[in-house]
Amino acid sequence: MNPASSAASHKRGQSRNHYRWCKRYRSKYGAPLHEHGAKVVIADIQDNLGQTLADKLGENVSYIHCDVSNEEDICNLIDTTIAKYGTLDIMYNNAGICDSPFGRILETKKSDLERMLNVNLVGAFLGAKHAARVMVPQRKGCILFTTSAATSIAGLSSHAYAASKCGVQGLVRNLTAELGQHGIRVNCVSPYAVVTGMPIFDFETAHVDPAQMEMALSGIGNLQGQILKAEGVAKAALYLASDEANYVSGLNLLVDGGYSVVNPSMTKFVESLGKLQK
Ligand SMILES: NC(=O)c1ccc[n+]([C@@H]2O[C@H](COP(=O)([O-])OP(=O)(O)OC[C@H]3O[C@@H](n4cnc5c(N)ncnc54)[C@H](O)[C@@H]3O)[C@@H](O)[C@H]2O)c1
Repeated sequence: MNPASSAASHKRGQSRNHYRWCKRYRSKYGAPLHEHGAKVVIADIQDNLGQTLADKLGENVSYIHCDVSNEEDICNLIDTTIAKYGTLDIMYNNAGICDSPFGRILETKKSDLERMLNVNLVGAFLGAKHAARVMVPQRKGCILFTTSAATSIAGLSSHAYAASKCGVQGLVRNLTAELGQHGIRVNCVSPYAVVTGMPIFDFETAHVDPAQMEMALSGIGNLQGQILKAEGVAKAALYLASDEANYVSGLNLLVDGGYSVVNPSMTKFVESLGKLQK
């Protein structure tokens, strides 16, 4: 489980991060936000996991139940954060769901699409809207989203998932235009496949070793000799949230080892020619 959304306040000059906890793969931990001086409010619908994570991270981290597709819940998340810490510096809209990566258009129901959009796009929209509500008067802030490499290359996911994440990318660009006038930066991180708590990586049910799944995903990626872990995504988000990125806004930061800019078909063709030569 990644914290679905994190609202954070921090001391000026210090960075902050989001923290990863996966109920199925406990060995993976990201660098905790509190190590970077942030006070964090984790929001999710998995209350037991969220509360356990907050308890583990200590007094500067708390948990709140929040269904990101519900505007009242998002409103409550922001208002609670302000009541507790007086300010909101970073809003990280990370909550997301996915479906089968091979869902064909004729097999996709309207309700499948609506479910996906409701969490991935409407949730992101509501998170940004209510963060902006308090950040605009502050005249500063940082709004982040997790999108996907599916924003940059086709065929990686279902149509519903691609539509939802490309929608978020459009939102990032439009928000960048409006909120830049108020000193607020808006960016997104777009990962390649990472083995997490997402149901498609349910290796317990599939009886697949998680390390093998990571190796397989790495093998079909572009950058060899490296495996993308949740920590790698967290570090990209940490950079975007930090003062080091103080003039970075409107960026879709692809964390995909170059996967989305490389078309390997010509290399494969040349290799196949070599095999054909007598
Ligand atoms: N894992 C990947 O390969 C991958 C690749 C690209 C992008 N992403 C994106 O990364 C983000 C994090 O996903 P993850 O891979 O860590 O999966 P995850 O399932 O571990 O984390 C997603 C979290 O979102 C929460 N969530 C789901 N619906 C919610 C709702 N309505 N309200 C509040 N919380 C809700 C879940 O409870 C879970 O804790 C998602 O936006 C996902 O689309 C993941």
